[in-house]
Amino acid sequence: MQTMKKIAVLTSGGDAPGMNAAVRAVTRGALSKGWEVMGVHNGYAGLLGDEFQRLQARDVGGIVHLGGTVLGSARCPEFVQPHGRKQALGHLAKHGIDALVVVGGNGSQSGSASLAREGFAVVGVPSTIDNDLYGNDVSIGCDTAINITLEAIDRLRTTASSHRRAFAVETMGRNCGYIALMAGIAGGAEVIALPEQELEPAEVAERLRAAYQRGKTHALAVIAEGARCGVHELMQYYGAHRKSIGFDLRVTRLGHVVRGGIPSAADRVLATRLGAAAVDTLAESARGVLVGMVRGDIVITPLEEITGRTRPADASLLELARVMAI
Ligand code: F6P
Repeated sequence: MQTMKKIAVLTSGGDAPGMNAAVRAVTRGALSKGWEVMGVHNGYAGLLGDEFQRLQARDVGGIVHLGGTVLGSARCPEFVQPHGRKQALGHLAKHGIDALVVVGGNGSQSGSASLAREGFAVVGVPSTIDNDLYGNDVSIGCDTAINITLEAIDRLRTTASSHRRAFAVETMGRNCGYIALMAGIAGGAEVIALPEQELEPAEVAERLRAAYQRGKTHALAVIAEGARCGVHELMQYYGAHRKSIGFDLRVTRLGHVVRGGIPSAADRVLATRLGAAAVDTLAESARGVLVGMVRGDIVITPLEEITGRTRPADASLLELARVMAI
């Protein structure tokens, strides 16, 4: 069993609200075990570029409530290349780092898996608004993203009802419909379009038309970024069938707004638990694993098992949303 003396932590991929709480938890969890901690700036790009900074307890003070990541993040294609990883491993060795904690989503944890394959001690902490990581029920950032989407839905409903309009709201999530599904159910959406269960534009329009005919004063269609029937396709269809739908239809694309701002309490608590658990996992000599939350418990899954897999949203909940929209 290797005795841990010094670890590094980085945040990688798309920033997610709660990443800072995770960095704080990793740092303070490790310091409390008597280890040294180095923060790596700008994700894997900082590993390649030798951007290390010693972190003490006060360096991670006053960040638990901040969105984004104080360490900075990046998407780093060079890290996929063997020469990029060699450079990264060289810098980790130069600083005497025994293990690395990677806070990030799917792409970032594939990077962790390749470092683990090279024999380096890595633990992944799932952080992505998309909530699409295998081996984990809920990732850091997705609760805040759902709440931001929900707030937008609630606000748009005000105008929709006042003007008897329909709104199509596009929210982020890459190829996973989790944010759209949860925000759509919580916001009482008339239609939810997900990549996990595709709808044709004609079907979305038909549901809006039916809502109009049932006497609704508004209709909300929540469209996941990755759905094939996107807001563009929907507007094209609407342009050709405007009269028969009843509602006037407008589009709002939330884009990166969904990823910004302060993390929710749930994301801060999740990030604190997962960050501390990553340190405990290293203390127990487990390596090459993702530390996730499954049914409320900390569960570790080998990174090899999660690589190349994703976790889809539970499309069976669409039926519930449909019943609620009558
Ligand atoms: O993975 C998080 C995410 O926000 C996705 O929902 C979105 O598709 C993507 O990142 C956007 O990436 P970028 O910020 O690099 O444009």
